[in-house]
Amino acid sequence: MIIGIPKEIKDEEYRVSALPSTVEQLVKNGHTVLVEKTAGEGIGISSDEYKNAGAEIVETGKEVWERSEMIYKVKEPLLEEFKYFRENLIIFCYLHLAANENLVKALVESKTVGIAYETVEKNGALPLLKPMSVIGGSMGIFNGLKYLEKTHGGKGKMISGMPGVAPGHVVVIGAGVAGQGAIRTAVGLGARVTALDVSFDTLLDIQNIYGGAVETMYSNPANVMKSVKDADIVVSTVLIPGYRAINVVTEEMVKQMEPGSVIVDVSIDQGGAVETMDHATTHSDPVYIKHGIIHYAVANIPGTVAETASVALSNETTRYAIEIANKGWQQAALDNYSIKSGINTAEGYVTYKAVAESVGYDYKKIEDII
Ligand SMILES: NC(=O)c1ccc[n+]([C@@H]2O[C@H](COP(=O)([O-])OP(=O)(O)OC[C@H]3O[C@@H](n4cnc5c(N)ncnc54)[C@H](O)[C@@H]3O)[C@@H](O)[C@H]2O)c1
Repeated sequence: MIIGIPKEIKDEEYRVSALPSTVEQLVKNGHTVLVEKTAGEGIGISSDEYKNAGAEIVETGKEVWERSEMIYKVKEPLLEEFKYFRENLIIFCYLHLAANENLVKALVESKTVGIAYETVEKNGALPLLKPMSVIGGSMGIFNGLKYLEKTHGGKGKMISGMPGVAPGHVVVIGAGVAGQGAIRTAVGLGARVTALDVSFDTLLDIQNIYGGAVETMYSNPANVMKSVKDADIVVSTVLIPGYRAINVVTEEMVKQMEPGSVIVDVSIDQGGAVETMDHATTHSDPVYIKHGIIHYAVANIPGTVAETASVALSNETTRYAIEIANKGWQQAALDNYSIKSGINTAEGYVTYKAVAESVGYDYKKIEDII
């Protein structure tokens, strides 16, 4: 198969999907790998390193897209890349379709096969979302701290407190993988931390790890209101896999917060779980203010710690890319449930139920296609 690694074009996205070691494995499996000349430059990997690993270096993204049978990238294709979609082209990357109807339409109309990292499932977990979620949650806290500073528009509070001064209050809503990244970082920095989730087992894990250092609460409107009202930083990481995120933090709750507090909505890539987060932001323009509260809604947080993130991501995606390339998407899906669960669009249909319901498209079972 001809596999293409284009340079990411999203704002300040420095990650690359495949390292030279990934290319080497794909080539050993008999595949041709096209790498855009500048694909690895964001993390200091030169085209010579890819070439030495067996890649063919191509000058432009256009050539990568046009010649490849599978595009293997990090973030969802942007509007300017939709023109390359075509029947049977495989796109393997984050897609986050529930919050992106335009992309669904483009994939469906072109009959492109969209295999989404974020819905690849293994033993009830999401192995290709996990590594970025750990980073997203942890970096969510660091960004929260930054915008809490007066010079960045915040209330001017140091989250760790001081001898004689109480620490700040971090409220983490959704205590899954990203939530736990946020909790670990916030606890390490000495914050007072409250974690809310709807899963008893998840809250039990938090209590077993942190004991009294983290207050746990069941996530219902009354408890969310109570904790958000008192928070200096709210980090939302709510996810119902595949679906558009639901509004767990309402506008009314945001209005109750102290001016200069910060909300980081990590779940913005699935549409966001905060009512006042009405659009995603970018690394070059990351925040906006509503009701006196700083809203941080960057949808590709790990893009700025690209070296760590690229290695962590390719560690997990490589084996699936190899299997899809070796067998073709249909046989790979038949043999491996994880790959089947990643297929969101194929042959002109939405094949992932939660996505179809979120964007109002007909759903077709992948089993009825392959
Ligand atoms: N913005 C970014 O750059 C970035 C980076 C990484 C991950 N993410 C996103 O972060 C989100 C979380 O990912 P994850 O891997 O942690 O998912 P996860 O499934 O591990 O965790 C989600 C948690 O939300 C909980 N939840 C569901 N409904 C809830 C509710 N009403 N109230 C409170 N909690 C609720 C679930 O029980 C679960 O524990 C996803 O949307 C993911 O795509 C964004």
